[in-house]
Amino acid sequence: MSSYAKSIALYERTRKSLAGGVSSNVRYASTPVPLFFARGEGACLYDVDGNAHIDYVLGNGPAILGHAPKPVIDAVAASLAQGQVYAAQHSRETDLAERLCRLLPGIEVVRFATSGTEAVLMAFRLARAFTGRTKILKFEGHYHGWTDQAFISVRPSLNEAGPAQSPVPVAGSPGMPPSVLEDTVVAGWNDLDLLRQAFERHKGEIAGIIMEPVMVNGGPTEPASGYLEGARVLCREHGALFICDEVITGFRAGLRGAQGRYGVTADLTIYAKAVAAGFPLALVGGRRDVMDTLLDKGVMHGGTYNGNVQSMAAALAALDVLEADGGAVYRGLEARGTRLMQGLASLARKHKVAMRVQGLPAIFQCFFTDGAAPRNYRESVACDKDKALAFHTALQDEGIRTNQNAKWFLSTAHDDAIIDETLAAADRAMMAIA
Ligand SMILES: Cc1ncc(COP(=O)(O)O)c(C=O)c1O
Repeated sequence: MSSYAKSIALYERTRKSLAGGVSSNVRYASTPVPLFFARGEGACLYDVDGNAHIDYVLGNGPAILGHAPKPVIDAVAASLAQGQVYAAQHSRETDLAERLCRLLPGIEVVRFATSGTEAVLMAFRLARAFTGRTKILKFEGHYHGWTDQAFISVRPSLNEAGPAQSPVPVAGSPGMPPSVLEDTVVAGWNDLDLLRQAFERHKGEIAGIIMEPVMVNGGPTEPASGYLEGARVLCREHGALFICDEVITGFRAGLRGAQGRYGVTADLTIYAKAVAAGFPLALVGGRRDVMDTLLDKGVMHGGTYNGNVQSMAAALAALDVLEADGGAVYRGLEARGTRLMQGLASLARKHKVAMRVQGLPAIFQCFFTDGAAPRNYRESVACDKDKALAFHTALQDEGIRTNQNAKWFLSTAHDDAIIDETLAAADRAMMAIA
């Protein structure tokens, strides 16, 4: 068993000055306490007790090139002496905007922000200003940031969530005004009939629908065949904007995100996380006529750190790596992720553990169930969370870091030797929980 004595002592000390001892509630979910790390390099993180972790959390997604990737660090280091925030324009913004418009499906024009949460708010405001409607439709189990407008029915208890055919919007936190629920329609994901019915119930009211094109936060689940295309068509029929939240899937489901992978184009898309390989950057992009409302209708969007020098430099350097040879790194990522997924599934069979591995090669989860593969939030929460936590804990003892639901992110730094090492450790961890 690893020792976490220094993390435990630091956590006790930190709680006295930092609320809850963490800077994001998500970080409470760690055993035995929120761990303290000293350093990250490539696929590994090193904690203050000297334990090495092969890291499959990767900052919850951004570290697509692993920790401290040299080309990105070098580019950011070279930019540091040029300043950080100008409250004015600079040509790195232009270079990055042009590159993203060339690369990403449906992106005619972009606007930079700093976090995914606020970029989602910008997309909501654009959709409302463009359509003159108020309601946003979101899907159960999908996460779009922690704001009052978005943190609705993300992890609702099924006692409160109402019928699957017409879920009740559930506020995700104390302190949220009830009025936000009136402006939100919630639907079950991955079922076109449910979406069609929701549109019918709220005819002419819905400004836009927002979804994770691959549900990741509610348990990595690919869209059913034809689902994204069908949602696209329904949005057109009902005059609503199709907003894709590619904060996680962007530059992870492939070089052109989930939309490139599945051949669908949204009206507005939000990217963040992997786009700057660990530096804070988010963006909203999409149709020129919608984005032009920023200027034409005076739709307000601001942010002191938007387009800051280092985030632009980081994203440009990350794109150099991700785009090289037509996105060659993604072929390796897919191959090694597939091998890891298949290896974990075969270990579960070997140890007679009822477990499915589901998602994409660069983002997947071990679902503990002897039933069918989950297709939506309600089926995903029905899987055995205690078993997932036990596997996560056993993996941590073996030097493998996943999140507590046994969700895995992969980076280009996880090479074949690391995958072999991970599977050997997972074999022992699986034996421990079998
Ligand atoms: C799909 C999705 N959208 C939005 C967000 C919010 O992004 P941020 O944490 O950068 O505010 C997240 C964060 O995990 C996310 O997973």
